[in-house]
Formats: sequence, C-alpha cells, structure tokens
Amino acid sequence: MKGIVLAGGTGSRLFPLTKITNKHLLPIYDKPMIFYPIQALVDAGIRDILLVTGGRNSGDFLRLLANGKEFGLAHLNYTYQEGEGGIADALALAEHFADGEKICVILGDNIIQGSIAAAVQAFEKQERGARILLKQVPDAERFGVAELVGDRIVGIEEKPARPKSPYAVIGIYLYDGTVFEKVRRLVPSRRNELEITDVNNAYIQEGSMSYSFLDGWWTDAGTFESLLRAANLVAETSVSKSGDEDQAAESATSAPQ
Ligand code: G1P
Repeated sequence: MKGIVLAGGTGSRLFPLTKITNKHLLPIYDKPMIFYPIQALVDAGIRDILLVTGGRNSGDFLRLLANGKEFGLAHLNYTYQEGEGGIADALALAEHFADGEKICVILGDNIIQGSIAAAVQAFEKQERGARILLKQVPDAERFGVAELVGDRIVGIEEKPARPKSPYAVIGIYLYDGTVFEKVRRLVPSRRNELEITDVNNAYIQEGSMSYSFLDGWWTDAGTFESLLRAANLVAETSVSKSGDEDQAAESATSAPQ
C-alpha cells in the first residue's frame, strides 16, 4: 500500500507561528510535526510515500527530509499544492502517484501514540471501498463525527454543533483506487473547500465504508491548544518510555549472573 502525507495549507489558525513557516515544520516536543505522520506510515509497513505540500516554505521540507533516510526510506516523493483548496483538493494531486493502488492518507498534523498497522492489514484484505479510524473524544464538535447505528456507520458530519456520537473521524484514511473519481465529483463546501468528509460519505452511500477504533491517544495540532497538547502528550509518552527503558536496563544489569 502507498502512503500520502498531506502537509499543505496556510495554518491560519496558528498565525503568527505560521507567518514564516509551514505548520507541519513547527516543533512537537523534540521533532518537527511532519516526522510523526511519516513515522506512523513507516511503522505500519508503508515505505512508498508521497508528501503533498504547498506555500512559500515548501522547499524546507526537502531540506529537512531529503530522501527520508532518517525513517529508513530509500526515497521520498513530493508534490506541490497550488492555493488553498482543502484536504480533498490536496489528495487529488496524488492520483498519478497512487496509480490505481490502495492508499493510506494521513493529515500532516495528526499524531498518534499507537500503531495503525492492524487497520492497514485489515484494509489490505478488504476487497474494495474505504476504511476510517475512529476515536472517542470529549470535544467531537471540533472534528468529522461518525454516526453509528448498531455497528454500522451511516454518515459523517463535519464539525456538527450537536455531534450524534462521541466518535471523531481521525485524519488517517484508507482508500481504494476509486477515491479520485469521488474527489472529482465533489462540490466546494461552505468554507469553500473540497471536504474529505464528503469523500467518506460517498463511500458510506455506496455501502463500502468500514472502520476501526484507534488504540492509544490521538491528537491534531492545528490550533494553539492542540499544538500544546500534542507536545505534552509526546513528551509524557517519551519520558515514560525512556523510564521503562532505564528500568529494563537497570534490572538487566542488576540481574544475578
Ligand atoms: C479535518 C477533517 C475532519 C477531521 C480532522 C482530523 O479537519 O475535516 O473531518 O476530523 O481533520 O484532524 P480540519 O483539521 O481540517 O479542521
């Protein structure tokens, strides 16, 4: 499966942090934001990755990531989004790269604690359609929200005032090759963007959408609050991880010979 990281946009909600750089180059604890979604794909076994970016600072991604050696990759692919057309508009640029194959799309500001390997494997086996990942959150109105009837997903509402469930649709999407036809049929939303939620609803309408629940924490990082939360979550997790490692090393050295 191929991977696509969407890292365009103006990051207007983070102005003035984004006045002279791209949102996805801002730090999250000890790494630039863009490292986390790339690592999430690599950890799920995806090695053929396209980065879609844009704006005045797009050259910095090449300087930062080059061919992805730090992630153990042999090469990275890049493409450029003109203007501000929304997530689905950015995705349209990946059609040539995808070349009819299944894809895993991740938003460049989504950070997860765990792994998406199980969902990726489930989608490999899925004959057609799409798969999304859901996470229960206390502030669903900030996201795309899934409506479930029993265990069936019947619709997604983008940032509803009154969410029909506490399940946010996280920014990691698995699609078959028909996604680009669906993007071509979209019309711009009220915020004048091509919405990824409309793509997902097209799959739901044709009865080919499935979903998985994500384990571990998830956050976006596109607002001041979520940027801070992301840094704190990553810091706490890496501190507790290195604590575990120290403890393991200690018990290994103190173990009787
Ligand atoms: C986008 C999607 C939304 C999704 C969210 C995840 O929102 O439109 O459905 O839940 O990403 O981060 P945005 O961050 O563009 O407002």
